[in-house]
Amino acid sequence: MKILGIETSCDETAAAVVEAAPDAALPWRIRSSIVASQIEIHREWGGVVPEIASRQHIRDICGVVERALADAETNWADLDAIAVTQGPGLVGSLLVGVAFAKTAAWAAGKPLVAVNHLAGHIESLWLEHGDIPTPAVVLVVSGGHTSLYLVPTAGAYRLIGRTRDDAAGEAYDKIARLLGLGYPGGPVIDQMAAGANDRAVSLPSTRLTHPDRNAPDREYRFDFSFSGLKTAVLRHVRLRQSALASEHLPDNELRDLAASFQASVVDTLVDRTIDAAKWYQARAIGIAGGVSANSRLRADAQARGVSAEIPVFVPSRHLSTDNAAMIAAAGLRKIAAGDLAPANLNAVATFPL
Ligand code: KG4
Ligand code: ZN
Repeated sequence: MKILGIETSCDETAAAVVEAAPDAALPWRIRSSIVASQIEIHREWGGVVPEIASRQHIRDICGVVERALADAETNWADLDAIAVTQGPGLVGSLLVGVAFAKTAAWAAGKPLVAVNHLAGHIESLWLEHGDIPTPAVVLVVSGGHTSLYLVPTAGAYRLIGRTRDDAAGEAYDKIARLLGLGYPGGPVIDQMAAGANDRAVSLPSTRLTHPDRNAPDREYRFDFSFSGLKTAVLRHVRLRQSALASEHLPDNELRDLAASFQASVVDTLVDRTIDAAKWYQARAIGIAGGVSANSRLRADAQARGVSAEIPVFVPSRHLSTDNAAMIAAAGLRKIAAGDLAPANLNAVATFPL
């Protein structure tokens, strides 16, 4: 079984071929994975511009898919199915992938599978590591999402916590913009924080102790909030700017602030994930999504997992950020369950998992 995955939910045009292999320990193999990133285009604007993203997906998608097929030494006739990200994401971007996948599936006479982008991030862990013990608690942490899922058995997902305001990656991006560090913020802050003093600035880490007023029936103890932290950093920067009578903070101060901010974000993410894993008696912890590329998050989660005696799984860096191999893997999961998409599939911007 060989599946083509297509991903266009944000600012990466991606295509990949993943094969189901007769190997119980590692049942999925990546035959090719191509990602055309639009980061350079959006950098000029300090963030993703939706209309520009959609137009760039249209320009890139044919070449990216052709390259994925060529690298996998396969062709349309040889594929068994086509999987595409249906949502969540920018609707104009999603539409390009969905329209392309529907057309290709119809023209090549192949089944179509609709994938939730967040399920893709979760399945990146199974794609990389094979059979992860369950029940598992998985943190999906990216530019658009910060959510905790319970995975009772592989392929089943239950939301047990999520951010009430900003996603962790979004907080990185906004703080980087505030400090004039460019876009995307995660990798820059990660680099700047290395070796700096993470206790230089005292910043809050939020623990929610009350139900969400918008969803009072939901569990709340594993929810996140990053907007208070963002405000605290902003206030600190303004105070220092007026004390120094300058817009620009010295480099060592910026580095210490980056490290302090990162420590607060990572502590919150790891604390909540470990708490949830203990609460649900998880046999494994997974961390996926763009922010899982963060070096401190990876190191701290591994260390805390060792103390809690729960193994921690993270994807390799190219499977952390958006890619189509994870979408193909989630597609294989859905095909195995007989869950195919209709020919009139539509993109869905807000698509809860
Ligand atoms: O999963 P992803 O590629 O796209 C979304 O689905 O949002 O995640 C992108 C996010 C961005 O906010 C970026 O700043 C963040 O992941 N990111 C990082 C790192 N690399 C990427 N955040 C912290 N540390 C990193 N090394
Ligand atoms: Zn993503």
